[in-house]
Parts: sequence; structure tokens; C-alpha cells
Amino acid sequence: MAGCCTFRYGTVAALTRSLRVGEQCVRMFEGYRLPKYVCSIIRATPQRSISALGVLRDQEWPVPPFGTHASSPPLARRPSHPLGIIKTSIYEYLQKADPALKTFDDLYPVVTVKANFDDVLVPADHVSRNPNDTYYVSDATVLRCHTSAHQLELLKRGEPAFLITGDVYRRDSIDSTHYPVFHQMEGLRVLGPEDWGSMEPTQYAETQLKQTLEGLAQHLFGSVEMRWVDAYFPFTEPSFELEILFKGEWLEVLGCGVTQQSIVDDGGFAGRKAWAFGLGLERLAMVLFDIPDIRLFWTEDSRFLSQFKAGSMKTKFKPYSKYPPCFKDVAFWLSDSFTENNLCEVVRAVAGDLVEEVKLIDSFTHPKTGKTSHCYRIAYRSMQRSLTDEEINELQWTVRRDIENQLKVELR
Ligand code: PHE
Repeated sequence: MAGCCTFRYGTVAALTRSLRVGEQCVRMFEGYRLPKYVCSIIRATPQRSISALGVLRDQEWPVPPFGTHASSPPLARRPSHPLGIIKTSIYEYLQKADPALKTFDDLYPVVTVKANFDDVLVPADHVSRNPNDTYYVSDATVLRCHTSAHQLELLKRGEPAFLITGDVYRRDSIDSTHYPVFHQMEGLRVLGPEDWGSMEPTQYAETQLKQTLEGLAQHLFGSVEMRWVDAYFPFTEPSFELEILFKGEWLEVLGCGVTQQSIVDDGGFAGRKAWAFGLGLERLAMVLFDIPDIRLFWTEDSRFLSQFKAGSMKTKFKPYSKYPPCFKDVAFWLSDSFTENNLCEVVRAVAGDLVEEVKLIDSFTHPKTGKTSHCYRIAYRSMQRSLTDEEINELQWTVRRDIENQLKVELR
């Protein structure tokens, strides 16, 4: 599920690398194959319309349907979009308790590898650095995979208390809760001796962090049962996840912890402490507003959008129609380099938002050749209309062709 699950694994190891930023990183877009729909999201934001990005328009990626309405203004900055409503509600609550918190909603999503990983102490061998998980724009730049990519940058600008909201990008599987772009909110608060007084500083930070976030969860969900679970993030120690009991199930709502001291020190706040948290806005919105499919956030259909009102957290989404899904299977012998994320990328590049799920339904290893075959079931479904057999068959043929050509697998 879109949320905070990438950084749980691995061990902490500080890293340094010198990389260049600015103009340089933008020019590196050239010749690099990012899926076009990801590019169009970036381009859609006015202050992101850096001319060099225009280069991407000419690349060969087909444009999935949502590419053309890729959110301008960005979803979380629309006051009556579910993501904007939740963002505003969280800002209001947290800023009431702590007026010093400044908000940042328009930080550019292409960041250096250094900012995304090294600056927040993500180990060199951490899975999230793999191009199979993160969109590399160049060797030195990525589409941020979390808003933590801006922690150090803002600390260095002298900001001691901030909330960041932005689109984040992860290569992933396809189902109703995963989308290659989703939205996170990051919070960070620096504390000083004037705050912790005679208390042990880390203990104080942890206590204040937990109180703040428990209050936030109550603000959002009412009086629910909650629990804290120990977690691992490279940039915090100790680290926790907050879970709430929702419809009988424990649901992870955010990740957080006491910021690693070296980050606070590097940021220019030596002698102080900090806490930080990160949460996924789609996940919260899906639960709070009963939104069943993550693709709906990207629709411009007024039957969706008109159900939400700025300032109202009480809306329960009423599905306006549920068109039937259409299932197509594809089976092939794997190649060494095959990954499911790559498969999903190929399928989404062809079918865009018409693909609802890609699911492994059979795996078989030949006893003699040792070769492995996978069979995937692709669910096609539109939120807007019935799909015709003809168009699905055509999509499926293109999907099969592209799987064969791009993934170097042998179709069965
Ligand atoms: N960046 C983490 C994630 O995306 C969430 C997080 C933010 C955890 C800040 C701790 C502190 O998974």
C-alpha cells in the first residue's frame, strides 16, 4: 500500500558523495527513459516547467490516459480534492498546536541521489536505491521516493520546524492501493534545551513526538484504539510506526522517530534534538473517505470530484458505478533480469489507468531445463465506462509484444 514501507530494512551507514545539483541535474533528463506519464506529472506544475523537460515529450513512451490530465495544479494543492482536504486538515491541527511549523508544498520532485539517500543516511546497499524501486533520472538524480529527501536541505536553510507535502515516486506492483506516484507529508521539529529542561533530550523528543502524532490521529480518526510499533528507518533512532484499529484491523498510518543526531548536526543545529514523521496521504484519504481505488485520485470526473468539499472531512465516497473488470492472462519464461516492477511498468505504459491489477497466478519450474515460467493475470477496468472487447484485445496484444521486446522474456 502506498505509504511508508520502503525504509524499514538494512543497517545504518553514513555515506558521502559529492554530486552536482541545479541546472546540471535537469539537463540529465535528456536521453534518459522515464515513463512519459511520470514526466507529464512533473511538467504539469507551472513552476516546474523548466524548458529542458520539454525534451521528454519526444521520447517513445506511449502516454497512458492520465498523462494528459496530470494534475495542474497538483492534487494536494487543490482545496477541494480529497488529498488537499486532508493536507489542510493536518496543517490546521498541527499548526494550532505549534504555530512555528512552516509549510512547503512546492519543492521540486527531482532531487539528487545525495539528498534522497545519502543525506538521510540510507545505506549504500539499501534496496530502495535499486533502479528497480526508484526512478533514476540520471546517475546522480532521482524522482524523490520520499519527502525525507528535503529534510537536510531545509535544516541547512535554517528552518527548525516544517511540514512538507509533495508527490513521491516509486516503481511498484499494480493493484488498488499502489500507484507509481503518491503523496507524502513530512514533519520535522528541532528542539532545544529550553524545551526539554531537566528531561533527557531523546526521551523528551520521543514523548513530544508521540503526543503530537497521537493527537493528530485522534483529530483525523476520532477516538480510535492506537498502538506504537518499533520500526527501523535509517534517519531516525529510535523509530516507530503508529497503527490504529480500523474496522477490526490494525492499520499503519505513519512512520516517525527521533532524528539521527548527525542529520541535526549537519543541518546546522548542533546541540539540539529533532523528531520527524512521514505519512502517506492517499492511504489516509482512502480510509477516511472510503475511496476504493488509488487511481480515482487522478480522475477529473466530476462524479468523483464533486463529492468532496474543501474543509469537510466527513464525506464518504459513493461509487458512481462499477464497470466490470476484464481479465487477460499472459505467461512467459523468465529471463535473468526479469522483475515484477519492470513488468508493471510495461503494462502501465500501454494501458495506463485502465489497468487495475497485475497478479501472479501461476509459477512453474521445468524439471529438465530448470527454466521458470510465470503466468500473470491482468485486470483491466475503467472507472468511467465499459471497455469493449476489441480495445482490451488490442491493449493485450500490445502488452504481449512489449513484454517480449522490452523484458527479453519468451512468451508461452
Ligand atoms: N520517509 C519514510 C518513508 O517514506 C517515512 C519517515 C519520515 C519515517 C520521517 C521517519 C521519519 O517510508
